[in-house]
Amino acid sequence: MKIEILPSLLAADFGLLAEEILRAAASGADALHLDVMDPNFVPNISFGPDVVALAARTAPGFRRCVHLMMSRPDLYLEKFADAGAQTIQVHVEADCDLHDALARIRSLGLAAAAVINPETPIEHLLPYLGEVDGVLVMTVHPGYGGQKFIAGCAAKVSWLRELRPGLDIMVDGGVNAATAALAAAAGANQFVAGSHLFASADMAAAVAELRRIALRSAPAR
Ligand code: DX5
Ligand code: ZN
Repeated sequence: MKIEILPSLLAADFGLLAEEILRAAASGADALHLDVMDPNFVPNISFGPDVVALAARTAPGFRRCVHLMMSRPDLYLEKFADAGAQTIQVHVEADCDLHDALARIRSLGLAAAAVINPETPIEHLLPYLGEVDGVLVMTVHPGYGGQKFIAGCAAKVSWLRELRPGLDIMVDGGVNAATAALAAAAGANQFVAGSHLFASADMAAAVAELRRIALRSAPAR
């Protein structure tokens, strides 16, 4: 499986957003993770399509993965596609028809992923596995950066990895050098990290370290 590291822009200095996007793009990371939040779906508000468009303008070659933590995400898919999203991730907990949303994301020419919260049973992902380019297993309760990795979520990753050896499995929330090892050992191959990467003085070194740890900890196949 290809290991991928994705800095989450939520942890950037919002006063220097363009510079922070360039810093992430120059770090050797594989893609930028953009967390879109509304206060109906999570207890926070982050940003919308304009910031996705800023990332597309600022670092056109740096892939953009947009994680929608919002109600009725299905009403905004075209807006995020127009803004430059290349992957769109929608929660199984969202108040829309997820089969339809995933199909529409793909028909827009983008990669589609389904996201599952820590408290949602993993079986809730099953109906969508044939319709996604990847899944995202939340390892914190969505809403904020800087939270502690919920170790119990690793069991979901190993269950999925067993079921689908070739599936891209992303983890998001509380990922650092120690927890990346746990997630990789469970079978995750894509790692979102916000505060860990943006707080590092040398993001390139931190990305390389996460990649090394992920490669080293990945289960033998
Ligand atoms: C949480 C977001 C995450 C968050 C991760 O709701 O989905 O992407 O930015 O931040 P850290 O890595 O700081 O936990
Ligand atoms: Zn996220």
